[in-house]
Amino acid sequence: MQPQAKPLNPNFSSGPCSRHPGYDIAHLDLSTIGRSHRSSVGKAALSKACRQTAELLGLPEGYRVGIVPGSDTGAVEMAMWSLLGQRPVDVCGWESFGLGWVTDIIKQLKLESTRIFKADYGELPQLSEVDFKHDVVFTWNGTTSGVKVQNGDWIADDREGLTICDATSAVFAMEMPWEKLDVVTYSWQKVLGSEGGHGMLILSPRAVARLESYTPAWPMPKLFRMTKGGKLIEGIFKGETINTPSMLAVADYLEALAWVESIGGVSQTIARCNENYKAVAAFVDATPWIDFLAKDPATHSTTSVCLTLDASPEQVKQIVKLLDAEGVAYDIGGYRDAPPSIRIWCGATVEASDVALLMPWIEWAYKKIVG
Ligand SMILES: Cc1ncc(COP(=O)(O)O)c(C=O)c1O
Repeated sequence: MQPQAKPLNPNFSSGPCSRHPGYDIAHLDLSTIGRSHRSSVGKAALSKACRQTAELLGLPEGYRVGIVPGSDTGAVEMAMWSLLGQRPVDVCGWESFGLGWVTDIIKQLKLESTRIFKADYGELPQLSEVDFKHDVVFTWNGTTSGVKVQNGDWIADDREGLTICDATSAVFAMEMPWEKLDVVTYSWQKVLGSEGGHGMLILSPRAVARLESYTPAWPMPKLFRMTKGGKLIEGIFKGETINTPSMLAVADYLEALAWVESIGGVSQTIARCNENYKAVAAFVDATPWIDFLAKDPATHSTTSVCLTLDASPEQVKQIVKLLDAEGVAYDIGGYRDAPPSIRIWCGATVEASDVALLMPWIEWAYKKIVG
């Protein structure tokens, strides 16, 4: 039987992600539009975005937050190009994006003293073998496999190297052990459902110390330069962006932060992701033909929930297409490099009631296509 009720919001894409409940573009503060990003109003908006981010996330004293070009990729590459090369690197990848950072380190930066920790889709590599005398590059939540690290217990308290963490689908969704992380990156269009284009770069005092004491051997494009005369350009972390940002996107990000504040802060965005994940897990637990791509329940992502079906790749595609055509779920096909699967974004801007309403539709589509 075809279900009656549809999710009120069918946007389950893993990025750009759904807008938050109640989002109205008319609510944006547009006072910066058409003004210079270096004007007093422009700078005030940009510095507010940095400051409020630090406050909402509860960053430790001395941590910097900067807005950088190139979305999350820009932030990760800026960090790797600026910081790596001083000591050996351990890099961990278990899905498309993390493996992309492996390629950067091996093929582009050509860092010879590198150890690669790889795992197949659905698994984590042997994190216990990572050496924290080295710099460590890893992804908190593998968006394309739905596998996250459980927590930061595997990160040594007395690390000597830096930890560089791509957390684009984790910040505002998962508890982050900030004191154990030297670089954290994310973008606005994921858990907060805002705009793409800009990356957030969070640096610990240890990362800043590395920037101020080490100059990589390779040329550094202007877009990546964070120091001048051996000192951190502090302005970057107070809203003086390296180049021109979209002030419309900044206004949108500030609106998203106001929403986070209005619902009670990061504990509530995390709780919302957990509730969304639980709505999927209840269905998966009760349904024999569907399973998490992530093998170990402790590693199940609570944002990018990836599911495999007892169906052929072609049938999975048809299910995705049918749900789209019915207007109940958009953009839920698994990532192009991932095994045939569906991926349901369960980030903070998604409503648990909509996730719950989607489940019977998945069942209906499966029965219709697979039988
Ligand atoms: C883990 C991870 N890293 C990096 C990216 C790339 O992000 P962006 O397009 O914001 O550069 C994504 C995008 O989904 C991602 O999931």
